[in-house]
Amino acid sequence: MRTALIAVVSGAFIACGSAAGAADIAAGKQKAELCVGCHGEGGISQMENVPSLAAQPDQFLQWQLVFFRAGTRKNEQMQPIVEQLTNEDIRNLGAYYASLPPPKPKADDDPDLSKKGAQAAAGRRCAACHTDSYAGTKAVARVAGQREDYLVKALRDYKSGVRAGGAMAAMADIAFPLSEEEIEALAHYLAHL
Ligand code: HEC
Ligand code: HEC
Repeated sequence: MRTALIAVVSGAFIACGSAAGAADIAAGKQKAELCVGCHGEGGISQMENVPSLAAQPDQFLQWQLVFFRAGTRKNEQMQPIVEQLTNEDIRNLGAYYASLPPPKPKADDDPDLSKKGAQAAAGRRCAACHTDSYAGTKAVARVAGQREDYLVKALRDYKSGVRAGGAMAAMADIAFPLSEEEIEALAHYLAHL
């Protein structure tokens, strides 16, 4: 099943990631006018349960758009958007959002919860893939400074199997044993980095 999924999406991804043409950040910025209403100015979301995209790794962004387009990641709001995107658009959008500065860290209103989150992250070795700064790399998402509500939602979606995760398909296995308490602490900690 996982192999089938990779087969479905890899065709499209090779097209996006190939050297067929350099990504065009200016064209990506123009296309991103379709996105700003939800993902916010400068890729910083002000909307509940909508992720910020600023400074996400280029590859991660491209993969997620390909997953939405292939239907292996489902979301009613993203579906009509990705139907309009070509491989070239995806490559340009990935380069554009990756080039933007990340969200500024917010003042931490609950340092005790962050401490619990930091302990859980160390215990679960989240940094092994997300990097020590949690800025992400390649197909691994940036989680530092992401919206707290969205981080909670994403971890619940992996845990319940609503979101399978692609490429390394690691997150479903990682989120499965997390308790609700750990999810909330992890999200609080990461959102305030
Ligand atoms: C109508 C609102 C809406 C619009 C317009 C929209 N998005 Fe989204 N997008 C969402 C929501 C909601 C999610 C979170 C889906 C989920 O919870 O799984 C999302 C998720 C994503 C993700 C996954 C990010 C992550 O951290 O997992 C990417 C990438 C993305 N959108 C890119 C875009 C791009 C590029 C555009 C414009 C071409 C766009 N979106 C337009 C609502 C929107
Ligand atoms: C083995 C590598 C690995 C480890 C360890 C790992 N992750 Fe991930 N994580 C990934 C990958 C790869 C993705 C992108 C998956 C996808 O395509 O949906 C991801 C995605 C996520 C996302 C979704 C981000 C978004 O914007 O949609 C969150 C949240 C997350 N990880 C949190 C964590 C936390 C918290 C831990 C520790 C409990 C953790 N990860 C440990 C590899 C890992």
